[in-house]
Amino acid sequence: MQAAHHVSLKDYNTFGIHVFAEIFYQITTEDQLTKVLAAHKDQELFILGGGSNMLLTQDINSPVLHIDLKGVAVVSETEDEIILKVAAGENWHDFVLFCIDNNYGGLENLSLIPGNVGTAPIQNIGAYGVELKDCFTSCTAIHIKTQDTHTFSKEACKFGYRNSIFKNELKGQYIINSVNFLLTKKNHNLRTSYGAIQEALDAKKIESPTIKNISEAVIAIRQSKLPDPKELGNSGSFFKNPVVELDFFNAFLDKFPEAPFYKVSDTAYKIPAGWLIEVAGLKGNRINDAGVHKNQALVLVNYGNATGKEIWALAMKVKDTVYKKFGITIEPEVNIF
Ligand code: EPU
Repeated sequence: MQAAHHVSLKDYNTFGIHVFAEIFYQITTEDQLTKVLAAHKDQELFILGGGSNMLLTQDINSPVLHIDLKGVAVVSETEDEIILKVAAGENWHDFVLFCIDNNYGGLENLSLIPGNVGTAPIQNIGAYGVELKDCFTSCTAIHIKTQDTHTFSKEACKFGYRNSIFKNELKGQYIINSVNFLLTKKNHNLRTSYGAIQEALDAKKIESPTIKNISEAVIAIRQSKLPDPKELGNSGSFFKNPVVELDFFNAFLDKFPEAPFYKVSDTAYKIPAGWLIEVAGLKGNRINDAGVHKNQALVLVNYGNATGKEIWALAMKVKDTVYKKFGITIEPEVNIF
């Protein structure tokens, strides 16, 4: 397979950062994937999915493999449930809409999340009370060095909050090529308890919501808070919500009784990084074209011509300012290259 050379990655990352890939492969079949892997087996590779969870701070000299495998197939089906096998290069939101159109329930709360199906398990994408792992049954992945295909069960993936084995023990070792989802065909398990969803449904006087109603509510909520990457480059939440221990949390709450929080366990509490950043005074802050979003401080944005280095400098300013004010370290959720 022929590579393209000196390709701008601006249209391949949702931050819209203009850096170059010296060697670029658009992979549309598994056969191409194994051949390209074999041809470069002694080199570092750069695997690119939907480009929605990365900040590019420099040109990429390693060969870039853009995983563009497509297809949705039925693995098995009963009256109540269906298992779908979805190729890694399918756009996540398009797949969610396909499920809604076919009345397959489970993923509706994950509407409008940028990125592709194949990269969703890596960070166990989540929103509005649901995580990918709730509908995930298995995935297949190709080992980069040996080109062997492995199947990973849900347990094997070791999913956690924005986390999986693919970010830890197996980091950089596999390319996920397909993901299997178990979805409901009736008696859907609707999750409306996340505050804003119920409010959106109440506002429309919907008492017995369908999965389509929930999807539409989530889309409306996300559109009201989160910038559309097509209009304003961004990578969703730039930071993870920090988790703090009970003693620290109690002292923190004494000082900031109005702070929102989620209980993680009897000894651990999660504090929204967006709130910390806003109260630290950085919402709407800007360095050239790199900015902290004006409606959701957890999101960093590219107003047009920001470089990856400028966004990273802003991220470090945010991290330092939050630490100075609260003594809490916030870590990026996005991958930095
Ligand atoms: N908040 C502020 N100011 C802000 C942003 C948030 O005060 O600028 C407060 C909100 O008022 C609320 C709390 O922080 O009390 C939490 O905010 P929100 O419900 O918007 O959720 P989040 O914690 O900021 C997380 C995920 C999002 C996901 C939403 C909804 C992480 C890092 N982020 O955000 O995920 O959509 O919950 O479930 O866990 C993503 O990963 O790209 C993403 C957008």
